[in-house]
Amino acid sequence: GAAELGPYRHYMQKEIFEQPRVIGDTLEGVTGIMPELFGDGAYGVFKEIDRVLILACGTSYYAGLTAKYWIECIAKVPVNVEIASEYRYRDSVPHPQTLVVTISQSGETADTLAALKHARSLGMPHTLTICNVSTSAMVRECKLAYITRAGVEVGVASTKAFTTQLAALFLLTLTLAQVNGRLTEEEEAEHLKMMRHLPVALSSVLALEPQIIAWAEEFARKENALFLGRGMHYPIALEGALKLKEISYIHAEAYPAGELKHGPLALVTEEMPVVTIAPNDALLEKLKSNMQEVRARGGQLYVFADVDSRITSGDGLHVIRLPEHYGELSPILHVAALQLLAYHTALARGTDVDKPRNLAKSVTVE
Ligand code: G6P
Repeated sequence: GAAELGPYRHYMQKEIFEQPRVIGDTLEGVTGIMPELFGDGAYGVFKEIDRVLILACGTSYYAGLTAKYWIECIAKVPVNVEIASEYRYRDSVPHPQTLVVTISQSGETADTLAALKHARSLGMPHTLTICNVSTSAMVRECKLAYITRAGVEVGVASTKAFTTQLAALFLLTLTLAQVNGRLTEEEEAEHLKMMRHLPVALSSVLALEPQIIAWAEEFARKENALFLGRGMHYPIALEGALKLKEISYIHAEAYPAGELKHGPLALVTEEMPVVTIAPNDALLEKLKSNMQEVRARGGQLYVFADVDSRITSGDGLHVIRLPEHYGELSPILHVAALQLLAYHTALARGTDVDKPRNLAKSVTVE
């Protein structure tokens, strides 16, 4: 009811603003990297496996895609990410030394549960879930688990469940790196420091709400939008586009920016807003030339840059600067900005934000 919502207009908005706290809760008690955080016997399992297979649906699938970038870069373990409903019905090549990771807010998604059982039936016994409900079928079915502490998520469009999944997956990344001898004590300490600082960093992103509302007012009049990102921010572009379409009903697509010239550039006109995730990373210069391609065709760029990205606003180029440059954890900050953009665009269009048409919170049938 209204009392529960406090100062917020919708559960989605409330849940977006709960993220600093629930990420803190999810990482509470993590004083160092140790396999047992994922359950008894985790060390033996992590020693045994030499690859990872992530299975999930929807927003949880995008958390998995982000984790692939982290795990391969930091832990040097090869990762495959599959949409559960595809994986369960296709002929794949199983390998017994696979860590099968399911990601699920509810722990009850039918396709993800079926995909897990399918993987096990193919001879892959090492299973781990990142799940928000400790009493769920998923947690019962998996040998290992990390429970995110997002709390109850009411909004159909997932927000805090996603960012807590990312926090847990980053922890998994560091743990696999440690078990494989790829994490020095200094690196561990530095990563932990960054993780502990996440709630503060995220709060400063949420404080950008007034600037994002100004953009949302323009977005509300559009029928299409393009989202661009590169590297580990490509899955964040996908999630930003999903949020926008789910709740505002604006058709949105995400592309890795380097693919622009292979198709989507044909769609770019003055009518097309192009949301660009532009952290100050190794790919920024490449991204800037992608942005130039959009600008040359009259497209309107809406850029989420870092405090230190050298991008200045101008004709057809709007910039919001995230207050901190956050390295590998930057996807967690950037997605919060995109959640707010989707939320306020939907609000301006007057849609039913918490219960978008045709969608369900938990899909327990195929
Ligand atoms: C539904 C929800 C999504 C969610 C997906 C997977 O489609 O509307 O928000 O991402 O299911 O749910 P899960 O509970 O497995 O994460």
